[in-house]
Amino acid sequence: MSDYQKLRQWAAGLFEGERVSLRAIEDQDIETFCDWWDDPEITLFNEGTIVRRPREVNREMFRQWAANKDDSGFAYAAEAAGQLVGQVSVYSIKAPAMIGKLGIVVGPQFQDRGYGTDILEVALRIAFTEYACRKLELLVFSYSDRGIHTYEKVGFQVEGRRRGNVFHAGTWYDDVSMGITAEEYFARHPRPF
Ligand SMILES: CC(C)(COP(=O)(O)OP(=O)(O)OC[C@H]1O[C@@H](n2cnc3c(N)ncnc32)[C@H](O)[C@@H]1OP(=O)(O)O)[C@@H](O)C(=O)NCCC(=O)NCCS
Repeated sequence: MSDYQKLRQWAAGLFEGERVSLRAIEDQDIETFCDWWDDPEITLFNEGTIVRRPREVNREMFRQWAANKDDSGFAYAAEAAGQLVGQVSVYSIKAPAMIGKLGIVVGPQFQDRGYGTDILEVALRIAFTEYACRKLELLVFSYSDRGIHTYEKVGFQVEGRRRGNVFHAGTWYDDVSMGITAEEYFARHPRPF
């Protein structure tokens, strides 16, 4: 097979997971993301402070992520069986470090069904095989047991812990930084050709 034929096949499957497909974020998805963003199941894990913002502010944030205007990262909607189940983004990849930051949300009603794991696998594939990411990192709050477990499942390792960085209900919680390098990713997923 020629390089072109191999790459064509590769490109066709790039956005496909075992259970989810990633695709561009459209305006109607943004309404669902805004609903999720205000749900305590999401807010508590994504925001250091519980805050309510006008819907238009959140819409604008998602619109900017959705544009995928440059090569510093990407944001996609995740679909399973034609239904919107989540959103994932990788951002801030820049030379010379080439370290991307990752964010993910699975809709509250779709959590714990394996979608998050699959979305992460596809996002890691895109980051490491198409964006020349050298490392991906993320921050997760210490009370997100499910998040930490899911990130470890796809190869992230705990790199550090900042004590008392998040404040809720009058109590300080830690945040945990996690990362996966390109070498670690390719050890788990050898280059296809
Ligand atoms: C974290 C998140 C992305 C994971 O996606 P998901 O679709 O729910 O995850 P999956 O179903 O693929 O996997 C969940 C795993 O966590 C495990 N899990 C569930 N609850 C858990 C808990 N309380 N403690 C430890 N592990 C837990 C599940 O058993 C499963 O692991 P397994 O496959 O080894 O059994 C998703 O739940 C989410 O968006 N949560 C809210 C927002 C959030 O936390 N975002 C991340 C901020 S950094």
